[in-house]
Amino acid sequence: MSLSGKVAMVTGAGSGIGRAISLALAGQGVAVAVNDIDLERAQATAKEVATRGVRALPLRADVTRLDEVDAMIQEASQGLGRIDILVNNAGTGKVMPFPRMSYEVWKNMLALHLDGAFICARGVIEGMVSARWGRIVNLSSIMAFTGPDRLVHYATAKAGVVGFTKSLAREVAPFGVTVNAIAPGVIETPLLRTATDRFVDKMVAQTPVGRLGTTDDIVHTGIFLISEEASFVTGQVISPNGGYWV
Ligand SMILES: NC(=O)c1ccc[n+]([C@@H]2O[C@H](COP(=O)([O-])OP(=O)(O)OC[C@H]3O[C@@H](n4cnc5c(N)ncnc54)[C@H](O)[C@@H]3O)[C@@H](O)[C@H]2O)c1
Repeated sequence: MSLSGKVAMVTGAGSGIGRAISLALAGQGVAVAVNDIDLERAQATAKEVATRGVRALPLRADVTRLDEVDAMIQEASQGLGRIDILVNNAGTGKVMPFPRMSYEVWKNMLALHLDGAFICARGVIEGMVSARWGRIVNLSSIMAFTGPDRLVHYATAKAGVVGFTKSLAREVAPFGVTVNAIAPGVIETPLLRTATDRFVDKMVAQTPVGRLGTTDDIVHTGIFLISEEASFVTGQVISPNGGYWV
């Protein structure tokens, strides 16, 4: 069954995976509320979404800010009618040795991935439950399972996303709302450009498929999880990772 006519909100959609998922949803006939903390990026993605013949609304908000997310959800609901699909994608990661990791850096990392997912999901869940249909897809990471060094804050936050996904999935399943996570391996996006070449080379060497993942590798998983055909798939973590599991 087609997703045409549905409405999605994608966070951190001004770049990388979020941008790619927004464009793919647009290709399925889904209107998109395109969020990013950087308005210009959101506007650029929204413009591309609109060329696919669906409505697009660029929305600047910091997903860690309750007031900003509340205002964004209100604007998206007014502008696009409702929100059927939420992709909690906004995120970042920076390699840092644990002894040098300040409490502030730790807290900010948890806030971005966990508070962000909570605040956005909390804002849209009642609408989905009332409509008896909804899809939430959260971006975790392979790092939640492999526990790389110098990424204690990131691995912890992404492991938290898994617990959040499973617990929320159980609670809203009776109402036709599914909640799943994608745990990508190493994907070529602007985020990866913040890592050193040595770090990236090591990751590729540890990836049996022998290459970095592309945003397309993630998008197909996302579209499947959002599809009508995945209505029996909930509380799951799918990891497109090229076999990387070290
Ligand atoms: N690229 C990878 O290898 C990889 C692997 C596993 C998981 N992920 C996860 O996938 C998601 C997307 O990553 P990406 O590689 O596309 O990154 P990216 O840096 O290309 O894009 C992230 C976007 O999020 C936005 N953003 C950051 N903080 C925000 C905030 N507080 N509120 C709203 N928007 C905010 C940024 O402005 C940016 O446009 C992240 O959650 C990331 O942790 C990425």
